[in-house]
Amino acid sequence: MTETFEPQILAFCCKYCAYAAADLAGSMRLSYPANVKVIQVPCTGRIDILHLLRAIEDGADGVYVAGCLEGECHFISGNLSTRKRVAYVKKTLDSIGIEPERAEMFNLSSAMGPRFAEIAREMTERIRKLGPSPVRCGELRSEK
Ligand code: FES
Repeated sequence: MTETFEPQILAFCCKYCAYAAADLAGSMRLSYPANVKVIQVPCTGRIDILHLLRAIEDGADGVYVAGCLEGECHFISGNLSTRKRVAYVKKTLDSIGIEPERAEMFNLSSAMGPRFAEIAREMTERIRKLGPSPVRCGELRSEK
């Protein structure tokens, strides 16, 4: 008997764009995988490297940040700062033997409900192919 792996994915979504796009997707009755748990943030600039790493440490198989389109952040450059942080998180994951593709950054507007649903499907498929997080599987152990 084979069990289908259902990834647990956290999505930090800016309330001005991605979260509003998620609402729009709901109003348009567009479905997206229940694997994605959305967390609303006032701006992606509020997301720290530790939030993303902690999500993985606590058992998420994937994590992504969805912010306003570049140049349209309500706090001027929050999304640009976070893009750099996500890049840093990817490097950190890679350095400890975790696939960097488990973390991602997206930009979208509040009018992009279909894109929101598409991103959720893309990330779910991506993480499903990668399999469960090595952290969750207990494959990462310090060798002392
Ligand atoms: Fe949306 Fe900053 S207000 S990313």
